Amino acid sequence: MGVMEGKRGVVFGIANDRSYAWYITKQLVEAGAECCFTHLPDEKGKMERRCRSAVQELGIDEPWLQPCDVSSDDDLDAVFDKLKSDFGSIDFIVHSVAFADRAFLQTGNFHTTTRQAWSQALEISAYSLLAMGQRSVGVMPEGGSIISMTYYGGEKVIPGYNIMGIAKAALEHTTRYLAADLGRQAIRVNTISGGPLRTLAASAVGGIAEMFEHQERKAALGRNIAGEEVGNTAVYLLSDLSTGVTGETIHVDAGFSIVGL
Ligand SMILES: NC(=O)c1ccc[n+]([C@@H]2O[C@H](COP(=O)([O-])OP(=O)(O)OC[C@H]3O[C@@H](n4cnc5c(N)ncnc54)[C@H](O)[C@@H]3O)[C@@H](O)[C@H]2O)c1
Repeated sequence: MGVMEGKRGVVFGIANDRSYAWYITKQLVEAGAECCFTHLPDEKGKMERRCRSAVQELGIDEPWLQPCDVSSDDDLDAVFDKLKSDFGSIDFIVHSVAFADRAFLQTGNFHTTTRQAWSQALEISAYSLLAMGQRSVGVMPEGGSIISMTYYGGEKVIPGYNIMGIAKAALEHTTRYLAADLGRQAIRVNTISGGPLRTLAASAVGGIAEMFEHQERKAALGRNIAGEEVGNTAVYLLSDLSTGVTGETIHVDAGFSIVGL
């Protein structure tokens, strides 16, 4: 039996079959989990179609799939209300969502970031975790596990990562405060600091090609990671294998962050 057998949860952030959320789902499904999904709403329904077909590649023919812009309280309420009415309770939440205006993700232009770009990046990429944690209490009466995705640029300066680095620092510390608040309700909150992966979101960051090259040169393992490796750590954090772990940022970066030079 897989370690996620009998567990059900919701995954935010599959844009296509290269998304971190897709690799996490792949490993969750392999471990026996039942997954529900949300997609970013758009007028032409492109995001819904892409999310649906990516999920179908994993053998989930008729996914539970709802629209959700995480900057909208109404959208979040609708998703959590529907989870509650359809299932009563869930066991896990995967937050794999981030956004920043790419105009401010160029090497050397952090100082030009506008108030609006700052607020938008922090709201979509960090506040959204708090917003989900807030709503988790209503759907996790027996406790549960929440994870999000972060990057080393939240700890150190990475050229071009800019405002996204500020958002990741906020996300990582939100993880600790949420974990402390929700711990007495047996809800655990952790974040995975993943190595660079070629996704839509990554392509918005100026200097991303250099990041990949540098990763392989500097990482302890001398290589980058595979999406499935992050997926396996997600399974660990969302399963009962990690019941004593909360508030952590776990690096799945082939040892990139432990090497200084
Ligand atoms: N790709 C990398 O190198 C890398 C490394 C470490 C961490 N991460 C993090 O992994 C997470 C997933 O990103 P990814 O790289 O898989 O890229 P991705 O583009 O595949 O996924 C980003 C997701 O965020 C969603 N999104 C953006 N704005 C939203 C909003 N307002 N409401 C709802 N959804 C919204 C997009 O629709 C998309 O599904 C992000 O938090 C990202 O910062 C990525």
